[in-house]
Amino acid sequence: MPDTKQTFDSISRNYDLVNKIISFGLHKRWKSNFIKLSHFTGSVIDIATGTGDIAIEIKRKFPNTKIVGYDPSKNMLNIAKTKDSSKDIDFIEGFCEDMPFDNSSFNFATITFGIRNTKSINKSLKEIHRILKGNGTLMIMEFSKSQNFIIKNLYNVYLNYIIPFVGRIFSKYPEYKYLATSIESFYTKNEMNEILRNNGFKVIKNVEYNFGLVTVYIAAKV
Ligand SMILES: C[S@@+](CC[C@H](N)C(=O)[O-])C[C@H]1O[C@@H](n2cnc3c(N)ncnc32)[C@H](O)[C@@H]1O
Repeated sequence: MPDTKQTFDSISRNYDLVNKIISFGLHKRWKSNFIKLSHFTGSVIDIATGTGDIAIEIKRKFPNTKIVGYDPSKNMLNIAKTKDSSKDIDFIEGFCEDMPFDNSSFNFATITFGIRNTKSINKSLKEIHRILKGNGTLMIMEFSKSQNFIIKNLYNVYLNYIIPFVGRIFSKYPEYKYLATSIESFYTKNEMNEILRNNGFKVIKNVEYNFGLVTVYIAAKV
């Protein structure tokens, strides 16, 4: 696994544009639907916030929330800061596996398209569990492996050829090849639900987009 901080620092400048291209514009809709799934109140941490889309949109829709955007990539965070017109989000640099927050600090933790990039998913989930308040909510959105034979094969072409090709256009072939590989080697929905349960969460709901290629996990700290 490459150094993810370095990888994201290096692709930060064109991240939003490339994301739009490789998701055929769908990532905006996935993110907007994701936020509609909860009524956010109190303190919220958006982990692996990247260029801040989720943190910014939650602040816009729920202005009374107190929001932290957290990510190890300084360059991604710098872009997030320029996009945040509220100037009321705390952007903090760091890895999910070791977070500088007290126990039971947050009502909500969100993480979109970031959990698969952590070095240790179990360590990360244990840390998220620690910083969430009792009965706090964890919302994850991530790519997942499809069980459908046809979709699986089409998706393999997309991951192995289309994403790396777009990466090459932006002179970031190794970085986008890594991102595609990290999607390909991630878990199925059922495996991910099991991992959440093993780390102290109760899975409340799964929501699937695009034939189950993108899955939302809503879980409560127990
Ligand atoms: C694919 S981007 C997703 C960004 C944003 N959440 C979105 O949906 O567009 C993945 C993000 O995870 C961050 N990341 C990588 N390793 C991490 C870790 N161990 N802990 C927290 N964030 C990490 C990267 O810096 C990057 O900004």
